[in-house]
Amino acid sequence: MIEARFPMAITSRPRPLVAGNWKMNGTRASLSEIKAIADGYDVALQNRAALLICTPATLVLTAAAACLGSKLEIGGQDCHAKASGAHTGDISAEMLADSGASFVIVGHSERRADHGETSTIVKAKAEAALRAGLRAIVCVGETRAEREAGKTLAVVRRQVKGSLPEGASRWNTIIAYEPVWAIGTGLTPTIADVAEVHADIRKTLRGALGADTAGRMRILYGGSVKPDNAAALMAVANVDGALIGGASLKAADFLAIAAAYR
Ligand code: PGA
Repeated sequence: MIEARFPMAITSRPRPLVAGNWKMNGTRASLSEIKAIADGYDVALQNRAALLICTPATLVLTAAAACLGSKLEIGGQDCHAKASGAHTGDISAEMLADSGASFVIVGHSERRADHGETSTIVKAKAEAALRAGLRAIVCVGETRAEREAGKTLAVVRRQVKGSLPEGASRWNTIIAYEPVWAIGTGLTPTIADVAEVHADIRKTLRGALGADTAGRMRILYGGSVKPDNAAALMAVANVDGALIGGASLKAADFLAIAAAYR
């Protein structure tokens, strides 16, 4: 039997994911950056890491079309919990999937803050993503006040437990740890702090999902990831990729960050 002669490799570490979050930035003119990322995503890098850009909803369809034939994935930044209905201005996970998205970010701190999204809402959105066949990137992270009060681990634990979708697997769910105070500020936690929080998230996942799933679920770090700090952050234990805001808007910067995995 071929299976017996070539047993499946035992890979303890998940394949890293380098994800861009364009936030409320980008018009059709920005598609040249998507094309440049797709062009720079060569086979050597494909073997090392998955690459994703989460565009504004207005660009998902055209960005996905621009990536046809490339391994670069396109995702959304939020979805409604329902598949359709009277929710003016909202977009469902099914609509994102129909437009060519394969991932969606849920529970980004900007949505938790600007739109009052609680972990209960985030969990429902993540479940909507899974229902639509999308992979959910579930964001968690403490504010500056919470960190200064020594509450980081408690806050992150509560958010992870409260936001994890029913049916979460290592394929369909990704956690992104993004300290709120590190987003868009140029500040990052120390390597030791990143290591501590990521190890603690892994532990929380073990309790919720069991050792096998938890060991292989990707935990991304996000918050002021730049080309010059990416290699150090991506080398931290239990960091399985990055979620990148500002530095994902330019193909050269995004590819320079992804190059940490070359
Ligand atoms: P930043 O944003 O890389 O600009 O800090 C990260 C994020 O909010 O996902």
